[in-house]
Amino acid sequence: MTPFPTERPRRLRSTWALRAAFAETRLHPANLIAPLFLKAGIDAPVPIASMPGVVQHTRDSARKEARALAGLGVSGVLLFGVPARKDPLGTEAHSPTGVIQQAIRAIKDEVSDEMAVIADLCLCEYTDHGHCGLLAGDEVDNDSTIEVYGQIACSQAQAGADVVAPSGMMDGQVKAIRAALDDSGFEHTPILSYAVKYASSFYGPFRDAAEGAPRFGDRRSHQQDPANYREALREAQLDIGEGADALMVKPALGYLDIVRAVKDHFNYPVATYSVSGEYSMIKAAAANGWLDERAAVLEALTSMRRAGADLIVTYSARSAAEWLS
Ligand code: PBG
Repeated sequence: MTPFPTERPRRLRSTWALRAAFAETRLHPANLIAPLFLKAGIDAPVPIASMPGVVQHTRDSARKEARALAGLGVSGVLLFGVPARKDPLGTEAHSPTGVIQQAIRAIKDEVSDEMAVIADLCLCEYTDHGHCGLLAGDEVDNDSTIEVYGQIACSQAQAGADVVAPSGMMDGQVKAIRAALDDSGFEHTPILSYAVKYASSFYGPFRDAAEGAPRFGDRRSHQQDPANYREALREAQLDIGEGADALMVKPALGYLDIVRAVKDHFNYPVATYSVSGEYSMIKAAAANGWLDERAAVLEALTSMRRAGADLIVTYSARSAAEWLS
């Protein structure tokens, strides 16, 4: 008899049925959230050149897309508004008749309780200067900005949003939003905080989709340095203290160590946002025949689940849900 170790890990990998049975991580349409862009004043969806397959929706096309996503078992939609008018204060962000408030009502009316309607909460799509808050000189002013975030949260909750998701990375934003919601009778509206958001070059294509590129400067005064790990845990800790119900880590692929760390340290629900650049990289490579889109997308999403993400915001939500069903 040849001497051989008793361990043969290949046994459990030897057939597809065994691999499936022993998979440690499952990916299900219910793990997915689809971002949708709503643009005011258009009468047909507008394709986004840098994100093949993604469009700026009309209210009607968004409603139909939400219906299809709900049918596939996708858990939620994350809504971004692109208003017809922008001003220095981003007034449209909290108008009762704003593009996002109308979209929330229309989609909620369509899907009722089948799917969560999550409202992205930031000012960069609404300000004419493209910054995430009110300016004092050339700087984003933290404390006046979070007051406005509170107003936006209330208008989104009033319109019927199931969840608000602040993405501006202002200090104290979760506390200000929680207080404003509670004062207005929305104590049951949860906050999904973009607790950990890096100043990433992978947001490039999103800025075409949301038309929210800063006119000058960048977002490094408030978004995190990709070099930092401890800072991410501190941000998550602060947001939990301020009343966040769930935490988001963004981007996803380059930051799966952070997803795992946040999950292990706090044991809170964790979402990760697979951002526009992650989507467009795979799309571009697939268009050139360099990657198999389906295999690459499902592998990336499975890795995010393995890292500890309960929910994944992804522009591939609809395709992935179709592939999984
Ligand atoms: C800002 C916001 C950004 C994204 C989501 N919300 C861009 C930014 O911070 O500049 C990026 C998402 C993506 O790239 O898919 N409110």
